Amino acid sequence: MTIPEVLFRGVGKRFASGTDAVLTGIDLSIERGEFVSIIGPSGCGKSTLLKLVAGLSSCSEGEIRVNGMTPANAREIVSFVFQDATLLPWRTVQKNVALALELEGRTRAEIAKTTEGLLDLVGLSHVAGHYPRHLSGGMKMRVSIARALATKPRILLMDEPFAALDEMTRDRMNEELLRLREEQNWTVLFVTHSVAEAVFLSSRVIVLAPHPGRVAQDIVVNLPYPRTAATRESKTFDEIVNRTSKLLRETHRA
Ligand SMILES: Nc1ncnc2c1ncn2[C@@H]1O[C@H](COP(=O)(O)OP(=O)(O)OP(=O)(O)O)[C@@H](O)[C@H]1O
Ligand SMILES: [Mg+2]
Repeated sequence: MTIPEVLFRGVGKRFASGTDAVLTGIDLSIERGEFVSIIGPSGCGKSTLLKLVAGLSSCSEGEIRVNGMTPANAREIVSFVFQDATLLPWRTVQKNVALALELEGRTRAEIAKTTEGLLDLVGLSHVAGHYPRHLSGGMKMRVSIARALATKPRILLMDEPFAALDEMTRDRMNEELLRLREEQNWTVLFVTHSVAEAVFLSSRVIVLAPHPGRVAQDIVVNLPYPRTAATRESKTFDEIVNRTSKLLRETHRA
């Protein structure tokens, strides 16, 4: 029997400062290679859930296992792309991407080669020497994605990574992300407010209900990979988006 890549068992989260539980009774099993999107109203605990998986915060109840390990012990195989791309303002784009590699003690030649490849991948080679303040929001986000990929993670946690992008760029980044995933066999946990984006990317969409955050729906997206522009134009895609939107609206009303 293979162990799940990410396992939540009765997970609850309560912050010391707050009286109400933010998350409760989360039971989820995510297999290696799944692309799981998490949607739900603002404040329902999506970012909190990702932070628990990353070991940046600990469960108040229940437990999480990442490839069989505690989140704290699994940090090396997990990368996080945060909701606000937090780049170091005093480091150039290239140096921001290089940071984790420097910490790992890689040679200068290795770092140069890896960062070059990653910047090419996210289409930012031409601004490698620029500082973050000279970049648009979308470009900053692409730098933070390149930075997350530098350590060759098995599991990618992405918190609304494309929210700041125009629709065309977002669609292109979505296709690019799926292409990369095909190649690298990541397991992805992806937070978004866009139902269409969630359905396009995911093999599974989890809808969280608020107050306290809990799993309201677990929807399998039966669309074959690779997904392309033609996927978005298909009738099945439309149907799944409509069905998911309806479930999300019901969650808001409940
Ligand atoms: N460090 C913290 N201390 C206390 N409360 C917190 C902390 N972090 C989050 N919360 C609370 O937990 C709840 C869930 O927050 P979270 O950021 O996970 O929501 P979200 O679903 O990601 O929302 P959004 O869609 O707006 O990003 C909110 O009520 C928030 O105020
Ligand atoms: Mg959030």
